[in-house]
Amino acid sequence: MTRPPGPKGQFLLGSLLPFARDPGNFLLEIARQYGDVVYMRVLHNHYYLLNNPDDIREVLVNQADKFRKSQLDYDILSRFLGNGLLTSEGSHHRRQRRLAQPAFHSKRIQAYGETMVAYTENLLAEWQDAQVRDVAADMMRLTMQIVSKTLFDADAVTSKGNAAATIGEAIHTFQDVSNHAYLRGFTLPAWLPTQDNRRAKTALAHYNHHLEQIIAQRRAASVNGEVADKGDLLSMLMLAQDEDGSAMSDQQLRDEVATLFAAGHETTSNALTWAWYALSQTPGAAAPLYDEVDTVLRGRAPTLADLPNLPYTLMVIKETMRLYPPAWILSARTAQEDVTIGQTAIPKGSHVTIAPYALHRLPKYFPDPEQFRPERFTPEREKLIPKYGYLPFGGGPRVCIGNSFALMEAHLIMATIAQRYRLHLVPGQEVKMAMQITLSPANGLKMRLEPRRKATHSLDEADPIAISSPQFHAVPISA
Ligand code: HEM
Repeated sequence: MTRPPGPKGQFLLGSLLPFARDPGNFLLEIARQYGDVVYMRVLHNHYYLLNNPDDIREVLVNQADKFRKSQLDYDILSRFLGNGLLTSEGSHHRRQRRLAQPAFHSKRIQAYGETMVAYTENLLAEWQDAQVRDVAADMMRLTMQIVSKTLFDADAVTSKGNAAATIGEAIHTFQDVSNHAYLRGFTLPAWLPTQDNRRAKTALAHYNHHLEQIIAQRRAASVNGEVADKGDLLSMLMLAQDEDGSAMSDQQLRDEVATLFAAGHETTSNALTWAWYALSQTPGAAAPLYDEVDTVLRGRAPTLADLPNLPYTLMVIKETMRLYPPAWILSARTAQEDVTIGQTAIPKGSHVTIAPYALHRLPKYFPDPEQFRPERFTPEREKLIPKYGYLPFGGGPRVCIGNSFALMEAHLIMATIAQRYRLHLVPGQEVKMAMQITLSPANGLKMRLEPRRKATHSLDEADPIAISSPQFHAVPISA
């Protein structure tokens, strides 16, 4: 088998520079130019970029056991996340996934709906008509508050000294430091007194202190060794038992909580932020959203029972994650043996790259890919998208464990905000994508709040709920 086509790159660096300069668009360009499988070299590493859903299924599902996430990911992430779900492999990963899965059962996460709406309403109480806000910062704070409450029942107010706030600050330091390491392509030994290492050390000390305290308090509140179910994810993780009756150790709990906190807010925040941006640029796609929330909710806060009647709102979120997938690239997978994927031989030790950002913009799967068109995700049309051609949450045994949680959260937040405000992009700012661990707007996102209607706080004050779903209109597209 011959090696697939791809960019030549420079003698020593290979494709390092174009990738580091603008990773998303570089991957998109080579995917468009070279097709289903693209070979590239970065320094001495061999990468195969997969752009075909069948090949992607092979790597993520059918032959997943022949790959492991790349060493670079482990080196960078495990310093903070230890041996949690994101950063473990093999039988250990399978056990942890088994133990954590019940915490994400739909029945269980449905209990978090009220919390999600309540925190959104708190945010709206701060918003003032015609005010200009950094919506990226607001969404980040909101999703962090929600993950703190649902994960370990803590109020993540931003005051200093508050556990969740300190954990949040530590996570952001960690993300910053990790982004630098990804850009460099290697980690520096933790003992080197670089600025990043010093920052990471302090952040890690705070992070560990608070997480250990939270877990110890739970243990201390146990009665006769029985952990009380406080309704949060941590309770579920503590109560979880494997078939042999074993439960997670405190160290394992620490690693899983650290992982869920880190993985569980920035991604959702970015999805929401990009959705407000896309809607502000595409009035034709925004109009049905406002119609839908007005018809169904009539000024009251949404509940879980409303979600099936708000399908367009969900379509907006799905289309946003097509164009702006928060996880714009999956962790590279390293072949543990020689593997054949479709027509391609992937030698042991080489890496497979799957980049939702590039995949989701291929015209083969998404005609006029640069256009924001939520109607791609009507139930009928969504079925026509190849299963591994749309991957905001990854796929296979390592698919995002929080995917239902995140979709429910984004759905509720979007419906709560959309009926109260229309968000307009403040002109004159450059909206640039920062492709770091997640895909975020590089300089925040300043938006002006146009009021739509006042809140109706009690169900009694509201008009009866409209049960039928609004009809979708053909949405005119603007660039
Ligand atoms: C819109 C929001 C989210 C997006 C786009 C997203 C995306 C992803 C993706 C693509 C992966 C797979 C990465 C890979 O295969 O390399 C993943 C894994 C993971 N996500 Fe999410 N995620 C989101 C929200 C959440 C939330 C809310 C939580 C938890 C509360 C969470 C927890 C995790 C965990 C623990 C993993 C590792 C799973 C494993 O390897 O077994 N994520 N996420």
